[in-house]
Amino acid sequence: MNARSRVNRRQFMQYVAMGAGAAALAACVAPGGAPAGGGAAQSGGAASSGAAAGASQLEIFSWWTSGGEVEALNALYDIYKKQYPNVEIVNAALAGGAGQGGNMKALLETRMQGGQPPDSFQVHLGRELIDSHVIPGRMEQLDDLYASEGWNDVFPKDLIEIASYEGHPWSVPVNIHRSNVLWYRPSKLEAAGAKEPPKTWDDFFAIAEALKAKGIPALAVAEDTAGFCGHEFENILVATLGVDGYRGLFDGKTKWDSEGVTKALETLNKALEYANPDYLSTSWGDINDRYVADDGPAMMIMGDWTHGLLKSKGFKDYKWAPAPGTEGIFIVLSDSFGLPKGAPHRDNVVNWLKVCGSKDGQDAFNPLKGSIPARKDADQSKYDEYQLGAIKDFGSNTLVPSIQHGAAAKQSFLNDYDFATNDLATNHDVAKAQDMLVKAAEDAGFGQ
Ligand code: GAL
Repeated sequence: MNARSRVNRRQFMQYVAMGAGAAALAACVAPGGAPAGGGAAQSGGAASSGAAAGASQLEIFSWWTSGGEVEALNALYDIYKKQYPNVEIVNAALAGGAGQGGNMKALLETRMQGGQPPDSFQVHLGRELIDSHVIPGRMEQLDDLYASEGWNDVFPKDLIEIASYEGHPWSVPVNIHRSNVLWYRPSKLEAAGAKEPPKTWDDFFAIAEALKAKGIPALAVAEDTAGFCGHEFENILVATLGVDGYRGLFDGKTKWDSEGVTKALETLNKALEYANPDYLSTSWGDINDRYVADDGPAMMIMGDWTHGLLKSKGFKDYKWAPAPGTEGIFIVLSDSFGLPKGAPHRDNVVNWLKVCGSKDGQDAFNPLKGSIPARKDADQSKYDEYQLGAIKDFGSNTLVPSIQHGAAAKQSFLNDYDFATNDLATNHDVAKAQDMLVKAAEDAGFGQ
């Protein structure tokens, strides 16, 4: 791996903020049509039951429908309901589709373009927020709220800058997630003679071979729609290119047709040989059930919402380590909520954002979500062993932004990137996938 000069939060922020000019030229994102399928918006869940008829509402869009996510969101709703008992929360959570929140993002885009925004919606801090919603002029800036709530002092400065465009913050970060975590089942690794999780991809393949001999898939993969392999690939890109090489992918310094990217694609292609063989018909939701099954895969590379999910299942036979080749690096993403222009219940949204940014809110949400708080003053007694480690790493590791989860690049690039990695997973044609990535990077105008 390349030398890892410690990149501080400021440098990380500068990286994420970079390209805003080019991005301004970019058309905004997702397909305008209706979502391809999936669930419907639901009213309330636990949080809205008992709301008085005719009460004022608060409609919240998210793609949080899995274990850990639901409980965490409900914890925020519970706090809100206590403070604002007359407001009915309409929980418009929508799962499914290609990429993270694919269906939700498509529906959101339709509503936003049609001038019918939900009151507030989950959005990744970084390019997803800025390019998809701020530059098109559909959000209200939040300077006053940041000032009145004291957030300028409690959120890391660099995080605020990621939330900012033209000097104003545009959403409220509710958490910090880590993308590059290897979740492993010690009992399965031991069965294959491995006492430690793999530190490098070479280690990974050695262990994977031993697992194969025992009939155990090494890697859990769910690629029935595009997205999961995009997550694996960002982890492999960081491991292969190192911090500087990875960062350079988005400012034109690292070429997408370079050997390093070829090598990373080859690594992903090879890793898929050790995945659950039905990964092309396995969904993101299903893979978690498979992972905890007695005959499930030994390892999974996925963000730490997986921790929230496994905890919500009461599953205990797992441990964690940085994804192979990424020790000392924290691939970061953050979920946030903002205030769309024309939100039907503006005052209710402002109060919602206050809850999202509050210490109580973050300390209720994050222990369940698997993430760590965005605030610096969280009550650490509320967090578990994994999360305390993540809090420490967030403060000391080199931070790089996630592609798959909206921090590094705009949504239009992410869509193309997911198609390319899905194509690799389907056709195993490294050259073709690389051509698709090169074209995607050109279209995104990286470095221009
Ligand atoms: C991420 C999101 C997480 C979690 C995950 C699961 O993009 O930031 O909060 O929901 O997707 O799909």
